[in-house]
Amino acid sequence: MTLILGLETSCDETAAAVVADGRRVLSNVIASQHDLHGQYGGVVPEIASRAHLERLTPVLRESLRQARVALPEMDAVAVGNSPGLIGSLVVGVSAAQALAWSLGKPLIGIDHVRAHLYAPTMTLPAEGAKPTSEPLDPADVYPALGLVVSGGHTSLYFLASPTDLRLLGKTIDDAVGEAYDKAAVILDVGYPGGPKLDRLAQQGDARHVQPPLPRTLLDKDSLDFSFSGLKTSLLYRVRGQPIGRGPAAHFRASAADLSPQQRADFAAAFQEAAVDTLILKLQRALERLDTEGQPPRSILVGGGVSANSLLRRRLLELASERGLRGLIPPMPLCLDNAAMIAGFAFEYFRAGRFDSLDLPALATTAVDSV
Ligand code: KG4
Ligand code: ZN
Repeated sequence: MTLILGLETSCDETAAAVVADGRRVLSNVIASQHDLHGQYGGVVPEIASRAHLERLTPVLRESLRQARVALPEMDAVAVGNSPGLIGSLVVGVSAAQALAWSLGKPLIGIDHVRAHLYAPTMTLPAEGAKPTSEPLDPADVYPALGLVVSGGHTSLYFLASPTDLRLLGKTIDDAVGEAYDKAAVILDVGYPGGPKLDRLAQQGDARHVQPPLPRTLLDKDSLDFSFSGLKTSLLYRVRGQPIGRGPAAHFRASAADLSPQQRADFAAAFQEAAVDTLILKLQRALERLDTEGQPPRSILVGGGVSANSLLRRRLLELASERGLRGLIPPMPLCLDNAAMIAGFAFEYFRAGRFDSLDLPALATTAVDSV
């Protein structure tokens, strides 16, 4: 059995996990910083990196305790070293470097976006129990169509294997999670915006918003995404056309002028438009791959927005219509976590692909140009 310790500090979650043989999660500890950033309405980088420093050691200890293992039993130390907030990434990377050096074990740097696409193939034991379901056989999963939907990314990939990715399309403006967070501000639903908007949408009826909010599909064959038009459309529908221009511009109305039912209806209309767009692009990508003679066996979805109730339902419907396996991570592996880092690192461990102890932290990802 190969045991890998994973650390993840790329944004506002401090996380550590122990994973056996890539897919069995023995522990997955996440200390969220929502309490610290909520009052500012978004992540403050300096506060995030300081909180990572304070929390990483207790989170690491807890991950070992829950997995009932000791540090010297680890076969490797993995860390998310790109992309993210640079001051946050550096905390996890420095800790992983020190651990790998002191334990004399290999260090493996992991791209966070790639790891999000590994999460749907992993299993989680029920609380306190031994893993029940057998990990998936990779032969049933790949080649796969992968969709990453997070606060920073909305990208489609063809995956020949877990490590071999080809970019098919990406957002040309906002990521879908970012659009969710901005829509949450427009509708004044509170922080963190995505999950709160999702919950409010379930009480609304999108049909009450007429005309419907736009689904931006770009050119006929495009596999790229655009969400800024949807966000602006919601803004103007809620607040009215801006009066004046530039910094002096202001709006005649706000979410406070809506009834609770109207707010829920707008949330539902936004959610349907956003998810429709994702599903339509997945359909296009499936058609493209069929035409290219590379039909996938499964659809993998990862990243924070894969926690979305409507996207989860629509994705499983699409996969079953097409006779494909639809794989979505269990909830604790949707948002940023270290189990996906330790899990994915196993693929590199098997291949003997290790990093040197001067592994850099990188704010951007190379995976958007593969
Ligand atoms: O993957 P993630 O935890 O961090 C990044 O790598 O960006 O994704 C965070 C994003 C945020 O934009 C958050 O609003 C969104 O995921 N999110 C959701 C839901 N839960 C989290 N968006 C829609 N519905 C949800 N249930
Ligand atoms: Zn993420």
